Amino acid sequence: MSTQTTPRLLRSLGGEALDRPPIWFMRQAGRFLPEYRALRATTTDFISFCLNPEKAAEATLQPVRRFPFDAAIVFADILLIPRALGQEVWFEVGEGPRLGLLPEPEGLAAQIGNVVPALSNVGETLSRVRAELEPERALIGFAGAPWTVLTYMIEGRSTDRSAARSMAYTQPERVKQYLDVLVEASALYMQMQVKAGAQVLQIFESWAEGLSEPLFEALVMEPHQKLLARLSDLGVTVPVIGFPRGAGALADRYAAEVNVAAVGLDTQATLQQGCAIQTKRTIQGALDPLLLRAGGRALDERVDSLISAWGRGPYIFNLGHGIIPDTPVSHVKQVVERVTGESVSA
Ligand code: CP3
Repeated sequence: MSTQTTPRLLRSLGGEALDRPPIWFMRQAGRFLPEYRALRATTTDFISFCLNPEKAAEATLQPVRRFPFDAAIVFADILLIPRALGQEVWFEVGEGPRLGLLPEPEGLAAQIGNVVPALSNVGETLSRVRAELEPERALIGFAGAPWTVLTYMIEGRSTDRSAARSMAYTQPERVKQYLDVLVEASALYMQMQVKAGAQVLQIFESWAEGLSEPLFEALVMEPHQKLLARLSDLGVTVPVIGFPRGAGALADRYAAEVNVAAVGLDTQATLQQGCAIQTKRTIQGALDPLLLRAGGRALDERVDSLISAWGRGPYIFNLGHGIIPDTPVSHVKQVVERVTGESVSA
């Protein structure tokens, strides 16, 4: 049952169409904000920064102090899971993530019990944020989807993912073993996040693109279904947003067969596709982060067309992928004001 104090995001995830959509941005806690860059400069190592509850809570809260976003997303990273499972992970400055040699699936499976203790600081971050966040704003926890995380584990860095996709053809059983380990580890990690204060969970499948239909079933849909089933076994009842970025037409199958509360749509989603999915689920997205960075009248026009196409159904206003670091803060203000009707002093 919804009341006025139920956060707008939760009402939308419950299937309500609202007077205006809730709004938050993927990667809102990050480098586009000067105060983030200043805070980030106090710790060289990115993983140490993620695992520092005081700093991570501050990074989580920075965007919601500046803008009337309807949610805060916990500051963490999808690659904390492989690290907790015993694979080496580090970040090269200016280049991105690097991972050490991929352990055997049995070796990773043996470390599953280590995941929640190794990531308890993320729980501490969530509790700190929940204590400070206004009740009308929701707190989002997240994990990378098994396939997306596995692509980084196999390739050792951000690449074209052809090695990972090849392994899915040449060693399907082995890939399935890895995905099963990641399903279990992610379920336990997400349960811990909910206990610590997360009211919504998002599964980031950043690399659903380029998959044939059989691979999409085996690498994206099945692991998501297993993860949802496992969360339910573990007593987790909060709404889950699934974001199969790059799924294209396969997003329709995803929406039909994966029992998420909401489907995140990327920049390529058509308005018609969004409306069709909305008959079954809440949708989220799909403003192009490059248009947000570009700004101007085209940005206003696209915001208006997304809202006029999707605003009559359950819709969460968001980007189609993460915010780009050199996005002007004034463009974020322009969109947030247009969507919320509130004026932002930032
Ligand atoms: O959304 C948020 O504001 C919460 C924080 C968050 C981060 N990473 C912080 C971060 C979230 C939700 C993520 C998810 C994440 N991490 C994804 C899925 C979403 C997506 O963008 O596709 C992926 C693929 C990663 C892995 C990752 N982390 C990469 C490839 C990189 C390097 C590229 C880059 O953006 O720099 C990171 C580093 C990272 N994660 C940064 C931040 C703020 C930048 C590092 C820094 O501040 O020094």
